[in-house]
Amino acid sequence: MFRKITISAVSALALTTGALTTGALMTGAAFAAEGGHVEDVAFSFEGPFGSFDEHQLQRGLQVFTEVCSACHGLNFVPIRTLSDEGGPHLPEDQVRAYAAAFTVTDKETGEDRPGLPVDLFPANTGAGAPDLSLMAKARAGFHGPYGLGMNQLFKGMGGPEYIVAILHGYTGETKEEAGTTFYENHAFSTGWIAMPPPMEDGQVTFADGAPNDVKHMAEDVAAFLMWTAEPKLNARKDTGFKAVLFLIVLTSLLYLTNKRLWSGVKGKKAH
Ligand code: HEC
Repeated sequence: MFRKITISAVSALALTTGALTTGALMTGAAFAAEGGHVEDVAFSFEGPFGSFDEHQLQRGLQVFTEVCSACHGLNFVPIRTLSDEGGPHLPEDQVRAYAAAFTVTDKETGEDRPGLPVDLFPANTGAGAPDLSLMAKARAGFHGPYGLGMNQLFKGMGGPEYIVAILHGYTGETKEEAGTTFYENHAFSTGWIAMPPPMEDGQVTFADGAPNDVKHMAEDVAAFLMWTAEPKLNARKDTGFKAVLFLIVLTSLLYLTNKRLWSGVKGKKAH
């Protein structure tokens, strides 16, 4: 009986590893063949124990405010969440000041007033740019062969990597089509995007003196957009970790109880 179980376990293992290796190889091959080129970035929030780096989120908010908000909205994000723990964690007075910089049309009075923390970030559709609130979840780095999500599984690649890749995937080539200018971008699916290169090195100055070349600013704003798309990531991982810990303890206790309950019966050899 024991031999049978061992044999089936070993063959199952061999089969799955075999399948996984072929899968990984296929991912590599198909990746090279795809148009959109996305590279892996080691974000702080990846992996089972990863969490957002609040300083990076604050820098990302600054990049969004100074650069992206000119064309993009963030209309699903309440401004008050900027003070949340596990998010940018800004002091309340800074959040109030941030909100007050916007002009909001009050829903009840119909009159314009300065924004409050309870308001949402404004929408911005003027330039035909999509809302960025959920963009980090709406896009993935690369889905792998037949959309299996291999790279997400093995490298943790996803929307934030895609956003970084878009922001510095420009080649400098442009073309005009039906009155619209398109910019060549290796990360964009069609290779030509309607968004002009939004950033240049040194465009934003960070209070903490963090590097401000395009690559670093892109990573900061991508991390910030990951937070807007999944604001409870830290809390979720925390709860998941506690749940697994609890299950390990419970399993050990049940195992010991089971041994003890059956010790009188299983201890005897029936010859
Ligand atoms: C000058 C206006 C402008 C600015 C500034 C701008 N964008 Fe865009 N963005 C656009 C437009 C227009 C599109 C739609 C492009 C298309 O569909 O071809 C777009 C699309 C995008 C997309 C979606 C790509 C996709 O897969 O559909 C992302 C992500 C993005 N922008 C991120 C950013 C970030 C981050 C910033 C700030 C660093 C920024 N943008 C600044 C105009 C802008």
